[in-house]
Amino acid sequence: MRITVAIDGPAGAGKSTIAKMVGEKFNLMYINTGSMYRAVTLKAMEKDISYTDVNNLCDLIDTMEMHFENDELILNGKNVNEKLTMPNISSNVSNYASIAEVREKLVYLQRQISKKYNVIMDGRDIGTVVLKDAAFKFFLTASPEERARRRYKELIAKKIDVNYEHILDEIKRRDYIDSNREIDPLTKAKDAIEIDSTSMTIKEVVEKICTHITLNL
Ligand code: CDP
Repeated sequence: MRITVAIDGPAGAGKSTIAKMVGEKFNLMYINTGSMYRAVTLKAMEKDISYTDVNNLCDLIDTMEMHFENDELILNGKNVNEKLTMPNISSNVSNYASIAEVREKLVYLQRQISKKYNVIMDGRDIGTVVLKDAAFKFFLTASPEERARRRYKELIAKKIDVNYEHILDEIKRRDYIDSNREIDPLTKAKDAIEIDSTSMTIKEVVEKICTHITLNL
């Protein structure tokens, strides 16, 4: 049976943790589209390519083979996930993700994957653009303070030295750029179910999503 699930929402809303768990339950491949934008940012920064240098950015993306294994992005045969979540990538990714040509290339790759596999995909434009026809769409939110708290805990657990106020500012800044960019901004699809997870546990959110899918299969 064909099942496609789209999960959108702002930074730190819990999309990836929840998508992985729902994906496992329904045997779906989890595609974290944010990690693809992060990988482009990582490579571009390594090569000193600014987000305004569109020609070189496009050439760079054409050299990047990306696929997913065990919920993680494999870039040109290497697992680079540790690097993708570093604060310097988080601070720059929204600029690269606002470039139309970058989005066009990554959306194409995301759609190719979704043609081959049953997927649960998370990001900012999945329900509105990438998988407009997905049968199941969710829009996950939480207050900026709660999202910053979650991101702070995650980074501290990875022994990365961070400051809560700085993360909160960063999350608000990224939300602003993602929601106000010209191309495919972060917005709830009309047919998406909105879940505010501020005072819900991960288990409660997963249960809500799984129950909805099961009842509507
Ligand atoms: O995990 P977190 O919520 O911090 O962000 P992410 O999902 O890793 O996405 C990182 C950034 O990539 C976002 O802030 C967006 O700027 C961009 N992005 C996007 O534009 N479209 C997507 N489908 C996914 C991510």
